[in-house]
Amino acid sequence: MVKAIVAPSMLSSDFANLASEAQRMLNCGADWLHMDIMDGHFVPNLTLGAPVIESLRKHTKAYLDCHLMVTNPLDYVEPLGKAGASGFTFHVEASRDNWQELVQRIKSKGMKPGVSLKPGTPIEEVYPLLDGENSVELVLVMTVEPGFGGQKFMPEMMDKVRTLRKKYPSLDIEVDGGLGPSTIEAASSAGANCVVAGSSVFGAPDPAQVISLMRNSVEE
Ligand code: DX5
Ligand code: ZN
Repeated sequence: MVKAIVAPSMLSSDFANLASEAQRMLNCGADWLHMDIMDGHFVPNLTLGAPVIESLRKHTKAYLDCHLMVTNPLDYVEPLGKAGASGFTFHVEASRDNWQELVQRIKSKGMKPGVSLKPGTPIEEVYPLLDGENSVELVLVMTVEPGFGGQKFMPEMMDKVRTLRKKYPSLDIEVDGGLGPSTIEAASSAGANCVVAGSSVFGAPDPAQVISLMRNSVEE
């Protein structure tokens, strides 16, 4: 079976203290650190890019799970590879014409390629990216409209996760948006194994407890 991964979204952290916030999450049992890269164009919010990843990399060896909510993901491959990103997950809506070249370039930079889809995008759109030669190794199913933390989980997205899990038993299937103690069960029982969580982890009095609760739910 697939491994349980809990990835706190650093979007909910104090950006002015990113290195210590990252270390705090790792001390609380985080497996990966989820880094939301937004360009103010693909989504109506602007966050961080390669320079911040490069700075953070100097403070941690952790797996940096980069989620690219950008219109031109190809432009980010080289800089993020150099900066020390570990995973590079782009949106299928932003790569309809060039996903093969994109996946090839991501792999050549030593990063793990992943594809994400917005709530309105049907799951069938990612099938070609999973079956060919240049296939992705992770699918990130958005459970909110990308752009902001703290939104409500969309349970209807679990049909996508179930369908995907049936077709690909060993694929890394990640969910992102509104995940926490009250929604994790829906996601883990549908077959998600990588869980991104921002506000539920950073807002908790005991983040370690929330992280372990979510991991246990996937492992059950
Ligand atoms: C939203 C981002 C998420 C966000 C999740 O576009 O992709 O990673 O930080 O935050 P929560 O867990 O608060 O919904
Ligand atoms: Zn994200």
